[in-house]
Order: sequence, then C-alpha cells, then structure tokens
Amino acid sequence: MPTAEATTPVPALSGQGRTVCVTGAGGFIASWLVKRLLEKGYTVRGTVRSPVDPKNDHLRALDGAADRLVLLRADLLDPESLVEAFSGCDGVFHAASPVTDDPEMMIEPAIRGTRYVMMAAADTGVKRVVFTSSIGTVYMNPYRDPNKPVDDTCWSDLEYCKNTQNWYCYAKTVAEQGAWEVARKRGLDLIVVNPVLVLGPLLQQTVNASTDHVMKYLTGSAKTYVNAAQAYVHVQDVAEAHVRVYEARDAHGRYICAESTLHRGELCRILVKLFPEYPIPTKCKDEVNPPVIGYKFTNQRLKDLGVDFVPVLQCLYETVKSLQEKGMLPVLPPKDDQDQLHKS
Ligand SMILES: NC(=O)c1ccc[n+]([C@@H]2O[C@H](COP(=O)([O-])OP(=O)(O)OC[C@H]3O[C@@H](n4cnc5c(N)ncnc54)[C@H](OP(=O)(O)O)[C@@H]3O)[C@@H](O)[C@H]2O)c1
Repeated sequence: MPTAEATTPVPALSGQGRTVCVTGAGGFIASWLVKRLLEKGYTVRGTVRSPVDPKNDHLRALDGAADRLVLLRADLLDPESLVEAFSGCDGVFHAASPVTDDPEMMIEPAIRGTRYVMMAAADTGVKRVVFTSSIGTVYMNPYRDPNKPVDDTCWSDLEYCKNTQNWYCYAKTVAEQGAWEVARKRGLDLIVVNPVLVLGPLLQQTVNASTDHVMKYLTGSAKTYVNAAQAYVHVQDVAEAHVRVYEARDAHGRYICAESTLHRGELCRILVKLFPEYPIPTKCKDEVNPPVIGYKFTNQRLKDLGVDFVPVLQCLYETVKSLQEKGMLPVLPPKDDQDQLHKS
C-alpha cells in the first residue's frame, strides 16, 4: 500500500524555472517581496547599490537565497547597470526609489530612473514589469470629489503637488506617467501597484521612512499628533499584491493597495491601548479645526485577485513588536511599574 506521503501531490511552485529582478532589493517592501518570490520558487536577481554592504545581509539569510538569489550592483541613474541586471529575466519588479520630500534627492532617481528601468526592460525582452508606485500618484488632487472613493482612474494634480511642495507625490506621479508612456511606446506589459503608507515587521536592519511614521509616536519625539488622516497597509500584503498581479495573466492597469484609514488621533489611541508604556501623544496639535477626514478608497481589484488584507490594528502591533525585537525601540517596563517608580 502506498504511504500517505507518496500519494500527497506536491503543490507546484509557480515561480519554478522563472527568473525575475527586483530593484532596490534591500528596501523595506522589496525585502518582503524577495522573500515571497523565493518562497514561490523564483530565481531572483536583486539590485542594490552596494552588494557587499552588510545592510543587505538579511537578504542572503532568506530561505532559498543561497541557491536562487543573486545580488547585483545597480543604480537607477546608470542605465547600463539596469540592462545587465535585467538580462535573462522574465519579469522585473521596480521598487527602488528614494522615499523623501527633498526634491534634490527625489526627483531625478524617481523620474529618470523609472524611465531607464522601463527602457532597460524593453531592451532586454522582459515580459512584464510591476512598478511600485504610490497612492501619492492617485489622491493628491483638490478637484476630486472627497465623498467618492479614489480608484485606479484617479490621478494626482501635478500643480497641486508642486504648490504644496509635496515632492514625493510629484516625482512618483511623473515617474508613473513616464512608465506608462514608455510601456505604450515600447509595447511593454506594465502593471502598477499603488500602496498607501506601508507598516508591519521589518526584515532590514534600519528604520525606513514609513516605519518612522509610527516610531516617532513611541520615542517621545512627537509631543502632539497632527490633524491628518492616513490609509495603511501591511507590508506582507504589499509583497503579495506584487506577486499576484505579476502572476495573474489578465492583470492590467493600476491596483490600489490599502487596508483602512485612520486619523492620527485614532492611530495614537490604538498605540496607547496596545503599548501604554510608551510616551504616546494624547493631544492634537490643531485644537481649533474639526478632525480631518481621510480619503476613501477601493481595494476591490486586489481583493478580486485574492489579497486578504491584514487589519490595521494587527499591522500596528506587529510593527512595534518588530521594532522592539530588532532593538530599534527599547522595551519599557509595564505602565503600572513606571507609575510605581514615579510615586516612590
Ligand atoms: N513604504 C511606504 O509606505 C510606501 C508606500 C507607497 C509606495 N512606496 C514605494 O515603495 C518602494 C519601496 O519603498 P520602501 O518603503 O521599501 O523604501 P526603502 O526601504 O527606503 O527602500 C528603497 C530602496 O530604493 C533604493 N534606492 C534609492 N535610490 C536609489 C537609486 N538611485 N538607485 C538604486 N536604488 C535606489 C534603496 O537602495 P539603497 O539600499 O542602495 O539605498 C532602497 O533599497 C518605493 O518605490 C516607494 O516609493 C512605499
């Protein structure tokens, strides 16, 4: 009689035999993407600016990395390095970008770099490119109806981004528009993922910009919270979204990647409930105006591809736990013990 082991079919790994490139592989989102691709059996060529830098060691430690991950040096402003990295790849995931509002640092690599990525992908015969864009290319528009959920048809207004000095949104919007233009001209299959602010556990050893969004409320550096609202999504859902749109034969266009929106006051109140031992602000900086209401959105396109979003509360919990585990945030004694200490 055959054993159960012999009769259980081994699930086919969808990435087996396929090679893909991930740009900016050592970053927060890209690290989870590389991990997920390796789990699915892909061979991954990851671009980093310095393959020998120990900050990329977490990638080499991933399951499957020893056999199926190669780290290559590439810079977004060096087209030849991109051509070399993409050679022999079926797909490219373009995640590399500065994440800053400093126009000097942001504009060139985001805009020109994304064009170079698209042209290098076309030149090397890549079949599909997945570009990590941003919700910043979607909602920054004073003329949109605030009661209507933003969806894949919405675009940020470039003049508004410039006038409000939102250089990150400006550069990502021009970069995404440029990517679509090259895709059309060169007949390249492009899919875009537009994540909102991404949180969750870190694989890398440094705090990235979106994680700092939560970190600053735990360290005491923010004494008040701003009167603003923001949508959030878990980093593993963002990685999964990239893989799903890559693998779905009929995927096309833009995919908004978001779980839910919180006012900063709600975010701080959740953090206080979960981690009362930290000096989390309880007051809004703006005591005059009513709380700002965040944009509504639809994430139905990704749900239709099977992405099952982690709730924001879980996402916040995992973010803080990860910061503690990585030694980026001190683990404080419980609040009661702190109160006792102050009394004695
Ligand atoms: N995190 C979010 O909340 C969020 C939300 C929406 C969209 N996104 C988008 O998601 C992508 C990844 O963001 P992230 O949060 O994971 O950022 P991250 O951790 O800061 O990673 C960004 C990566 O880009 C690389 N990079 C920057 N400039 C480069 C250049 N000139 N040439 C080559 N590589 C360069 C960096 O490489 P080095 O290690 O060499 O510096 C880094 O690995 C970005 O495109 C960002 O716009 C992020």
